[in-house]
Amino acid sequence: MGVTGAVGTEFLKILEERNFEMASLKLLASIRSAGKKLACRGEELPVEELTEESFGDVDLVLASAGGGVSKKFAPAAVTAGAVVVDNTSAFRMDPDVPLVVPEVNAEDIKTHNGIIANPNCSTIVMNVPVWPLHKVNPVRRIIVSTYQAVSGAGAKAMAELEAGARAQLEGKEFTPRELPHPAAFNVFSHDSEIGEDGYNVEERKMILETRKIFHCPGILITATCVRVPVMRAHSESINLQFSNPITDREKNYFPMPLDASGQDDILVGRIRQDLSQPDGRGIEMFVSGDQIRKGAALNAVQIAELL
Ligand SMILES: NC(=O)c1ccc[n+]([C@@H]2O[C@H](COP(=O)([O-])OP(=O)(O)OC[C@H]3O[C@@H](n4cnc5c(N)ncnc54)[C@H](OP(=O)(O)O)[C@@H]3O)[C@@H](O)[C@H]2O)c1
Repeated sequence: MGVTGAVGTEFLKILEERNFEMASLKLLASIRSAGKKLACRGEELPVEELTEESFGDVDLVLASAGGGVSKKFAPAAVTAGAVVVDNTSAFRMDPDVPLVVPEVNAEDIKTHNGIIANPNCSTIVMNVPVWPLHKVNPVRRIIVSTYQAVSGAGAKAMAELEAGARAQLEGKEFTPRELPHPAAFNVFSHDSEIGEDGYNVEERKMILETRKIFHCPGILITATCVRVPVMRAHSESINLQFSNPITDREKNYFPMPLDASGQDDILVGRIRQDLSQPDGRGIEMFVSGDQIRKGAALNAVQIAELL
């Protein structure tokens, strides 16, 4: 579901790369894309319009067509006997739906009732490197600041960054439609709604989802989520306060989105002792991860492989 989008197109690449076992593959999107052809595993397949009747012959649904679409169609897929791995925010905080990063809480998959949620992309990019540290030295507090690529807002936002950059260089007027502000040569607060407490929805997701994935309701987290004029891969500055002093420092490589793009790994660097925590319990680090891959399509395919 949502195969023509930024995440959907990546799904096709990853299913092919990982040689995911399947007898057949059905491509679903809106009526706008019906009839369009997309290639996977050397085959040209037609895109079909998503309807409630789409799921009769389907075992597994990989969903990335937006929260409203998942809310409407995931129950129909489950009723038809399919398991849905959902990339949208529709079911993430539902207590009956496991929210899974396979490297962290793969076991939670077993409790599913037909729907398994894939976490928010910034949450995954943070959780993958923080979890192994948390296991050896429980993290008490996380302060995270993100530098998020425009592709997080979908395929049209990527085209908008390109068009906006060109317009600005040519001195032409440009009015953004997908993002609230011009993305080229600019930085702005994540394009999600700001609540009464001043946090935007993306920041809230990072906080609440991490607590659910880590099974750690008491972990203290604060986040500032920002869009930067990067096409692909989210970066994050992460400050951690541990229960006990922590000393290891291995590399001072600076992970860059251009390096992280197209990679499965979350790149981690600039690891250093936080000088403002004189008791030695603080670490600063900088990470960058391809949020369309590990932050979305790859994480969902990993879940499907475990299923
Ligand atoms: N981009 C990321 O990095 C990222 C990361 C994690 C999670 N997500 C989540 O994944 C979802 C998709 O994101 P995206 O970036 O791939 O968005 P996108 O590039 O805008 O693609 C949206 C997809 O949904 C389809 N769609 C929209 N309305 C539909 C409808 N009524 N019925 C059927 N299909 C419909 C579109 O089909 P048409 O082409 O036919 O319009 C397209 O295939 C969102 O919920 C997003 O929050 C995105």
